[in-house]
Amino acid sequence: MNYNNILSNYSNGITTITINRPKKLNALNKDTISELHKAFDEANNDGDTKVILITGSGEKAFVAGADISEFSHFNIEEGGKLAAQGQALLFDFVEKLSTPVIAAVNGFALGGGLELAMACHFRVASSNAKMGLPETSLGVIPGYGGTQRLPQLVGKGRAMEMVMTAGMIDASQALIFGLVNHVVEQIDLIPLCEKIASKIMKNSSVAISEAIRAINANYEDGINGYDVEIESFGNCFGTEDFVEGTTAFLEKRKADFPGQ
Ligand code: COA
Repeated sequence: MNYNNILSNYSNGITTITINRPKKLNALNKDTISELHKAFDEANNDGDTKVILITGSGEKAFVAGADISEFSHFNIEEGGKLAAQGQALLFDFVEKLSTPVIAAVNGFALGGGLELAMACHFRVASSNAKMGLPETSLGVIPGYGGTQRLPQLVGKGRAMEMVMTAGMIDASQALIFGLVNHVVEQIDLIPLCEKIASKIMKNSSVAISEAIRAINANYEDGINGYDVEIESFGNCFGTEDFVEGTTAFLEKRKADFPGQ
């Protein structure tokens, strides 16, 4: 599919989606969010993609936030709708994908940019990356899940400070906070993500999708994550991957999962 604001490339089991508005520091406007939804959906369902990487084009930014020029004139109703639509189309959607999604944070990840990175299953950053939720400096609050996911990842006190100060933290601080899993030089960012992806691809994609569902269940209101884990664990026993994985172990060989 052809997109105007993003690029999507498939190679060796990995679909890399690149937000491609470098002159606007890859800010998320409505069209970009809609294109991202389509690209993620397509990659999740194409049958070949085992891992999705998301990054920003250029050397400066992952995503410098929601496109401020698009919502600066909005009223209460329009503001609420913006957040609800964005969360449904992109942020909640990405978090719940059955295919692993890694954010390769290659520069500024601010506001909606950090919220997008946080909706991914985990994050790897380049050493020049800067992260923050600056919304309160604009007179709003994070609206794409930031008030919920930031405390989950870094703890309530750190999230409160980041949101209240509207400040940015650098990559090494983000590593200490647990906001990103690894920090490398920018040139090594995509290679490291691909290396991690290749490790993921050796494992059962069916089991990984059940694991994503069970881990996410811990953060869903009214859902008992342990119950979801029991159900997901049981589901695995009905899969060809389970037969292959356990048989391969007992036969002292490497598993060759169907669909690999
Ligand atoms: N929405 C819309 N446009 C944005 C944007 C955003 N969130 N972030 C950057 N841009 C645009 C700038 O308006 C500028 O466009 P122009 O060249 O047409 O004037 C271009 O991207 C480059 O940004 P600029 O501010 O000139 O770069 P910088 O290096 O001086 O500063 C930042 C970089 C990230 C510190 C700064 O762009 C910034 O603070 N952006 C907004 C961050 C933010 O508040 N995000 C949360 C939104 S809810």
